[in-house]
Amino acid sequence: MAKETAAITQRRSFLRQAATIVGGSAFLSSSGFIHPFAAVAQNPPSGCPIPPSGGTPFAPGQDKRPITLRKSINSFSTAELTQLRNAFAALRALPANDPRTWVLQADIHALYCQQCSNDNTQIHYSWNFFPWHRAYLYYYERILGSLVSNLNGFRLPYWDWENIRTLPAAYTTPGNNTNPLWDQKRNSGLAGGGNLPVNDGTQGRLNTLDAITDFATFGGTASGSGGWEYDPHGVIHNDVGTPSPVYQDMGDLGYAARDPIFFAHHCNIDKLWSRWNAQASAAMPGAFTNPTTAVFLNTRWSFYDENKNVVSISSGDVLDHQNNLRYTYQPYRLQIPPFKLIYECKLICCGPGPDPGPFLEVTVQVRESLLAAARSKSGIALVLQGVTVPAGVSGNFDIVAVRADRKMQLGSFGIIHESHMMQKTGAATVILDATNAISDLIAEKEPASLHVVPRQGEKGFTLQAKSAQFRVQAKAQ
Ligand code: C2O
Repeated sequence: MAKETAAITQRRSFLRQAATIVGGSAFLSSSGFIHPFAAVAQNPPSGCPIPPSGGTPFAPGQDKRPITLRKSINSFSTAELTQLRNAFAALRALPANDPRTWVLQADIHALYCQQCSNDNTQIHYSWNFFPWHRAYLYYYERILGSLVSNLNGFRLPYWDWENIRTLPAAYTTPGNNTNPLWDQKRNSGLAGGGNLPVNDGTQGRLNTLDAITDFATFGGTASGSGGWEYDPHGVIHNDVGTPSPVYQDMGDLGYAARDPIFFAHHCNIDKLWSRWNAQASAAMPGAFTNPTTAVFLNTRWSFYDENKNVVSISSGDVLDHQNNLRYTYQPYRLQIPPFKLIYECKLICCGPGPDPGPFLEVTVQVRESLLAAARSKSGIALVLQGVTVPAGVSGNFDIVAVRADRKMQLGSFGIIHESHMMQKTGAATVILDATNAISDLIAEKEPASLHVVPRQGEKGFTLQAKSAQFRVQAKAQ
């Protein structure tokens, strides 16, 4: 109740503010809705506006377009690439007060990042991450499609970084304003044709995530992020943008959606979520499925559609993307068996001895089971839940197991900067590949310690987790 009142007060003061800023000539859509963005086409949005609200609810079945494949950018034909460029060019050319335009659409993403508001609109760091971005892409794709008069056939491409280890050429060449897919504010190494760091967004990383069977670990809970969000999602963001001052574009949630690569990056993430769901089967009841609770399904967000109308869509509406949103991806088979066995352990902070880092404590029984699994060459993941993400820290980090003179990278952690945001301490799920480091991690004497190693001089932090467990693959039957 208190929250509702605060939101209303905030909204009222926002409307006053909008009226002041635009001198009373607030922009009205055809539906008569005042576009909050009229006040915020700034760099980045400030003044604490809130995202659109209300609007016509999406009704499953209303979209009757043909079901069309979303493809890799590298398999686009010349005609498809031209269409994509034309669509982004048209988007960029819309007048600044049009809610479909490039900057204002990017601001929608920023506003849902709790850029500056106390409102409960943050869609990162929880189970809203996957469905919100799917909904955002859906309306963005419709806007682009309608701008090239191909609402039926236009679908966004994905950047499958697990295969394409550089920025896709379409987005970098030509490297100037004549290319609507180009963005000036990128990391110079990658922008100049360089490769992604060798461990980031690899097929191996995806195999580990794919083998996780529960949504809470994979995609988050009401109050915490899933393993996906920081790695590879955040890591790739920071690789593409500039993750240190000045933070831009992909390196800052307030600007990220100004880089057209954002949409190809998120399409890839959407594809991987879709693939994961596609593994659900009667053989493993409940595995690879999305949450079914009403609070998840009924969470609803508003967007602008291709006609500039405010529309709203719920998490539940986007789960069946094929039938409801009319796009699909190439079928896929997971490359490794799922993690079926779970062994609880504890992350203790911090050990005595020469390297006082956090380390894992396991029972004798668990140690024996894990060593047996290692002998049978089963993959082993280490899942940390409720990991503290300290406020005010951003950048890319490696998570490294250190024992004596051995160092093994188990995974990474990419925290995206958020300018103007009252950055709060968060809770994350971290999924690490422990397969090759298992004997060091669970050694009886002086087990490995776990370090968060900043890649480029970021502020570091100590790994702390509410719970920890090893997950082991049942060998392929
Ligand atoms: Cu909403 Cu990739 O961020």
